[in-house]
Amino acid sequence: MQILVYAQETQSYVEALQEVAPHAKIFGAATLTEAEPHLEDTEVLFAWGVPPAVLARMPRLRWVQWLGAGVDLIVGQTPDDITLTRVVGAFSTVMSEHVFAYLLALRRGIFEMRQLQREHVWRRVIGPSLRGQRLGVAGLGSIGSEVARLGRAFGMEVWGLSRTDRGGEICDRHFLPTEMRDFAAGVDALVLVLPATPETDGIVDAEVLAGMREGSILVNVGRGNAIVERDLIAALRRGRPAMAQLDVFEREPLPEESPLWDLPNCYISAHCSGPSEPRLVCTFAAENLRRYLQGEPMVGIVDRERGY
Ligand code: GLV
Repeated sequence: MQILVYAQETQSYVEALQEVAPHAKIFGAATLTEAEPHLEDTEVLFAWGVPPAVLARMPRLRWVQWLGAGVDLIVGQTPDDITLTRVVGAFSTVMSEHVFAYLLALRRGIFEMRQLQREHVWRRVIGPSLRGQRLGVAGLGSIGSEVARLGRAFGMEVWGLSRTDRGGEICDRHFLPTEMRDFAAGVDALVLVLPATPETDGIVDAEVLAGMREGSILVNVGRGNAIVERDLIAALRRGRPAMAQLDVFEREPLPEESPLWDLPNCYISAHCSGPSEPRLVCTFAAENLRRYLQGEPMVGIVDRERGY
């Protein structure tokens, strides 16, 4: 059996997979040119960022393990008879820590303190506590659920929004995507962990933003499609939401000329809230390969209809 790993850094994947499949031929490729000689005979593809058009040139391909959580780039391009799996669970810890790193820093005034230090100014900065504030988590998959769990640990009231009612046990109140306006209007911090699907396209628009609370924070670690960026720029200029932390954008890299870069209440990170623990993704990938080889059900099988 032949396996191809297409990623920026392939060595740790190749090693982890080889342990599970000692007899398989496993190749790593960081570019299309490196992948080229292996396309024809590959049965299993582990990939992040592979140009989807290459799938059509892989006649023996049976399974694609996407090395990320969101499969929007590949789901529409993967033929129906090929199993597509995504990573579930491996990003929950780092991404929820990223979310709370910012929520705490913004509420407690850490960026302001740093600025005062630079200016040699001794001034007390006193921000509100997260305890008692209301957190809204849109998208209650493995990552959103962990954000909700941490929110509760910080003493926040947690509201959740998802297309299926998973709210009961992890949230104090559950909303459906059609209720986004009321959901967003009721929370002090709105965290988006939504997959990119036609249903989430522009789900946060001018109307939703206008209804957000005074002093509220918007965080997006899901996909850039969820927010109408033009509307967000206008909303941030008006101060509702008061602040935004954006890890994902309509276009990435965020274009140099985007006004978001210079808005003082916008905090940008370069789509890096998740992959700081590649070890966990390797472990996930190797376990799924073990399941594949032993004919057991794999984890993270993508539902083509849902898109995730
Ligand atoms: C990263 O954005 C991912 O989907 O894993």
